[in-house]
Formats: sequence, C-alpha cells, structure tokens
Amino acid sequence: MPTLNIPLILHAILEDYVLPWDGVHGIAHWARVLENGLRLAEETGANIDVVQLFAILHDSQRVNEGGDPDHGPRAAAFALDLRGLLFDLPDHEFRLLHRACAGHTHERTHPNVTVQTCWDADRLDLGRVGITPHPSRLCTDLARRPDILKWADGRATLGVVPEFVRTAWGIFQP
Ligand SMILES: [Fe+2]
Repeated sequence: MPTLNIPLILHAILEDYVLPWDGVHGIAHWARVLENGLRLAEETGANIDVVQLFAILHDSQRVNEGGDPDHGPRAAAFALDLRGLLFDLPDHEFRLLHRACAGHTHERTHPNVTVQTCWDADRLDLGRVGITPHPSRLCTDLARRPDILKWADGRATLGVVPEFVRTAWGIFQP
C-alpha cells in the first residue's frame, strides 16, 4: 500500500461520522489536532503517520458531543477495521495508534512519545470549548512551553480552520 493518503482516509471516515462536521469534535478540530501534532513532532520526534491518523480518527466514532466515554476504544477498533483497506502501518506503529485512540480521553500520560504527542495535540485544542489546557494535563515539556501553548490555544479559542481543509481536503464547510 502506498504512503498515507490522508484526504482519502478522511473522506471515508466522514461517510460514517454521525455528528455535525462543524461541531466541536468535527473537522476543524481534527485539522488543528493534526497541525498541533505535526508541530510537536518536529521536536518530540513522534511518528508522523501515527500523529496524522490519530488526528482524523480519535473523535470520529463519537455519538454525541458530550459524555461519550467509549468513543476512544471505538475509534481504536475502527482504526483496526480500516487497516489494510485504506492505510497500512507496521505492527509497532499500529499499536501506538490503537493505544493513542483508545486512551485519549481517560489516561493522563503514556511512556511512548508518539502517544504523548497525540494526546497533547488533542488537549492543546481544548480552548475551542473554553478550557485552557493545564500544564499538568499535558504529557510533553514541549506542549507546556508557553510559546507552543499560546500558539495552539489561540487558534483553538478563535476556531481557526487550517487552510488545508479547503485545499488538500476539499472541504468548504468544516
Ligand atoms: Fe479530540
């Protein structure tokens, strides 16, 4: 299977997504998590494929915008369904993706830096629902750094829609 085709995978995920595309757990959130993750990965050394897949999968199986305690494990199971059909990853990378999706809601941190980077990328976007990420709830020193936290939180608070949502992803109503 060729290298990851994120737009193709994203559109397949959206066919199953039951919540509004413009909701607080929708496409703009996934896109900011992806950008946060790539920014963090430049310095944490996290696996980029895992970070990108986490961004578009981790909230994709939510059935409501509030308390949905099992959406992480469902996203992990969904990732397993898609593996080999829409993307492939070596076993050790897939295990990290599965773990990152399954634990992103309830677990504070994890020994692996790729999982840490995924969770920080998501938590740095809490400003969209009026929550400033608390440093004690972040996994990496990098995400706690004031310039990074301020950059990500500012975008979250403003609800910035990254340009690639329209260009690379072809979505005009995120
Ligand atoms: Fe999220």
